[in-house]
Amino acid sequence: MTATEGSRTASPLSAVDRKDMRDRGGDAQPMLIARELKKHFPITGGVLNRPVGHVRAVDGVSFTVMKGETLGVVGESGCGKSTLARLLMHLIVPDSGELIFDGDAVGESDGLSVRDMRRLMQMVFQDSYSSLNPRMPIEDSISYGKKVHGASEAEAKDAARELLTKVGLDPNLFGPRYPHELSGGQKQRVNIARALVLEPRVVILDEAVSALDKSVEAQVLNLLRYLKQHFNLTYVFISHDLNVVQYVSDRVLVMYLGEVVEIGPVDEIYERPKHPYTQALLASRLSMDPDDRIEEPPLVGDPPNPINPPSGCRFRTRCKFAEKICEVDNPVLGDWATADAHVTACHMFVPRSGHSMAVSSASGSAPAPSGTAMAGGD
Ligand SMILES: Nc1ncnc2c1ncn2[C@@H]1O[C@H](COP(=O)(O)OP(=O)(O)OP(=O)(O)O)[C@@H](O)[C@H]1O
Ligand code: SF4
Ligand SMILES: [Mg+2]
Repeated sequence: MTATEGSRTASPLSAVDRKDMRDRGGDAQPMLIARELKKHFPITGGVLNRPVGHVRAVDGVSFTVMKGETLGVVGESGCGKSTLARLLMHLIVPDSGELIFDGDAVGESDGLSVRDMRRLMQMVFQDSYSSLNPRMPIEDSISYGKKVHGASEAEAKDAARELLTKVGLDPNLFGPRYPHELSGGQKQRVNIARALVLEPRVVILDEAVSALDKSVEAQVLNLLRYLKQHFNLTYVFISHDLNVVQYVSDRVLVMYLGEVVEIGPVDEIYERPKHPYTQALLASRLSMDPDDRIEEPPLVGDPPNPINPPSGCRFRTRCKFAEKICEVDNPVLGDWATADAHVTACHMFVPRSGHSMAVSSASGSAPAPSGTAMAGGD
């Protein structure tokens, strides 16, 4: 049986299209709300190993994830995507900020405990091999989490076998195998099955398909889409690949140097990007059409050091629209809390901000992408 055929047994894992009994607030209540999440990693130095600074990896990040949607997260290497994922999972403790899961504050005495939240939210990483125990048959790797949470040996085994089927691997053939006997795509299917065994509501995929060959990547992406629908899942999909993010996402969040610079519906972001950074990122995608290729890279150089980011707007050192106001004032991200909002943190989109190109109303349109949003490429 293939993954797309699925199985129709009586297991709770087969709850196709059934309403999730764990849903509390209905569709209008976001699955996740992150408010002002912050994580600064201390940097030590000198002979006494004293703190000498902080990497501002995630610096006041706010967004919502609606039920059943896929929120894509994009941005250059080091912008804080994985740190954000680990904060959502509480694998690292935020310095400040709040996370609300289906109406419950996570880690608060009257909210959802971190332990319970970790059952409801699972993560799949890029490195499919190191995520699996090399000395454990994959059926045991998948059933392990279920047993830890109190399931009997038989229940856990049944769930593992059913999930192997769901991810397109024959349990009789693949269940007894060890990780080194699987291809990269098969290992990632096992990791996905392992993430689903506790019946989560949210799955965070951090570069989950980035290491796969293109043909295998497409198969795993289709599998993820099928599983999302089958199990009523909500995804946070992190990737540096803008084409993949466009393919899987309902909405997209763009990060730059620890901050959100733009968030909105996927078509809005890809067709009418507002922030000069988003415009440059999109313009830097390789076109399949040779006549459409550009000579000048729209985004050159590395982002500034996150230990000592530029004052005001953090993109100003690379932005060709930068003006005095951008140096002194950090633009805020507009009203990010509504599900269909398309907002950006740029002075050009704040009426009367002091920027010479500022829109006259909050719904004003973006300066046309000109092939480069860079400040002279330096
Ligand atoms: N434990 C840590 N201690 C100190 N700095 C850290 C730590 N973890 C991450 N960082 C730094 O925080 C910043 C954000 O890192 P992060 O891994 O979140 O970026 P990323 O967007 O996931 O990058 P990539 O696309 O390369 O995976 C980087 O400057 C990184 O060096
Ligand atoms: S115009 Fe100013 S605020 Fe907008 S991205 Fe450029 S530097 Fe930042
Ligand atoms: Mg990362």
